[in-house]
Amino acid sequence: MVRRSALAVLLFAGCTGDIDTGISTEGLSPAEQVAQDAWVKRALPALKFGTCDTCHSGQRPDAPAYMMGANDIEIRKSIVVFTPSVVSLGSPKTSPIILRGPHTGPALSASGISDVLYWIQYEQLAKGPGTPIETTPAVPSACVNGPTDTAGCVKTTIDLSANGSPGSTFAFFAQPLGADLYLQAITVTAGASGLTMVHPYFKTKPAGATDAKADTNDTFYNVALSLAAGATATLGMGGTSTMTGFSATDPLSIQFDALSTK
Ligand code: HEC
Repeated sequence: MVRRSALAVLLFAGCTGDIDTGISTEGLSPAEQVAQDAWVKRALPALKFGTCDTCHSGQRPDAPAYMMGANDIEIRKSIVVFTPSVVSLGSPKTSPIILRGPHTGPALSASGISDVLYWIQYEQLAKGPGTPIETTPAVPSACVNGPTDTAGCVKTTIDLSANGSPGSTFAFFAQPLGADLYLQAITVTAGASGLTMVHPYFKTKPAGATDAKADTNDTFYNVALSLAAGATATLGMGGTSTMTGFSATDPLSIQFDALSTK
């Protein structure tokens, strides 16, 4: 497997290296060479030359300048790290640059989408398996008498700002129920730049355990949200869900396949 992909990279780089694109690949790893090549040949032509760069290279104060850069390679750097993110390396298909439909500017064409997605996928490979997107483990505020937001029953609100979605929150009331943790009024609220969320996955770390335990039911496996600024979505069955074997006194965290602005 490893050998085969290394060979593919070699062939790819071998027939398309710096001669073709006129851009140096010196000092780049094979995976980075392929990503750069995919950028120059596929993504850049789809975005540049009057399609998106006419507004997104710093000309208009109202259009995020994610294509600003002194040359084609600098543009690639700025588009990858731009905040709020327009390229999602964790989940290429939900990248805002791909999902963005007609707005002040046009939507990408179908072939433009496939060219840009092609590039983002190689960009993702070049970066290697990223660190998972996960909230900092924290003990939830446990309720005894159900979701009455009074003393002794405080809503647990997890801030998602540090995980790629500024101002967004994940909130619920957590109530111990036998050996499980019963969650009520589970809501996700988007911050000022909106929210894109794919597959929230609950984890708990029992005291003394080396590894975190995951939600065995993978309750939110099919959750994919795209919320406008300030919008709220309710998750679970009528806003409730049971985390089997989770204790209210253990630190809890949520992992995501993708989390960003809208
Ligand atoms: C005529 C000018 C113009 C063109 C051309 C244009 N855009 Fe935009 N774009 C804007 C403006 C203005 C905004 C900010 C307001 C908004 O979100 O609609 C924006 C916002 C965006 C955002 C949201 C960025 C963020 O940080 O939330 C994305 C993504 C985007 N454009 C993608 C594209 C793509 C892809 C193209 C080319 C297919 C394109 N735009 C072409 C004017 C333009």
